[in-house]
Amino acid sequence: MIDDTINDRRRFLVKATSALGIVGVGLSTVPFIASMSPSERARSLGGPVEVDISQLERGQMITVAWRGKPVWILRRTPRTVATLTTNVELLADPFSKVETQQPPYASSVHRSIKPEYLVVVGLCTHLGCVPLARFTSGTLSGLGDDWPGGYFCPCHGSKFDLSGRVFKNVPAPTNLVVPPHRYARDTVIEIGIHHQKV
Ligand code: FES
Repeated sequence: MIDDTINDRRRFLVKATSALGIVGVGLSTVPFIASMSPSERARSLGGPVEVDISQLERGQMITVAWRGKPVWILRRTPRTVATLTTNVELLADPFSKVETQQPPYASSVHRSIKPEYLVVVGLCTHLGCVPLARFTSGTLSGLGDDWPGGYFCPCHGSKFDLSGRVFKNVPAPTNLVVPPHRYARDTVIEIGIHHQKV
């Protein structure tokens, strides 16, 4: 299973998502990955990456490459945002007390600058596998009646909610990492540069 995930990561690096003009994918589908030009690929391995989110609809997620890692941008629905305060009993660090896992401006329950958008590194904090999107809540998810929707790591079973917060009693010790990011414009996120509070 780990080998599969490593292969997935290799494929991801070869076919990293184009940073600008990206099109999102549906909740229940595998994230959309497009080819990247050599200059975009080089940029994704080093400097900041700009992502146009103007086409991202509610409930959709895209994956972009930043410093060789997959970064997920999820546009949450109002209903999803509401669950972030009701599922705290299930979580190991619901209020983002572990400071290494996010910048200070992302330490609220939604772990982002704007509640509607989650920006998070898509690597499990146990041993670095890529978790799978499991957005459907409840019994149909196969993850229990109380599953609020989130991400499931296939390597050793760690679970994260739709803020990237880790569940209790799983191998992963901490929440997923929120990378430095800011809004260059209302519909453009820049990953790799810190948001300045105004
Ligand atoms: S790498 Fe995700 S649970 Fe072990």
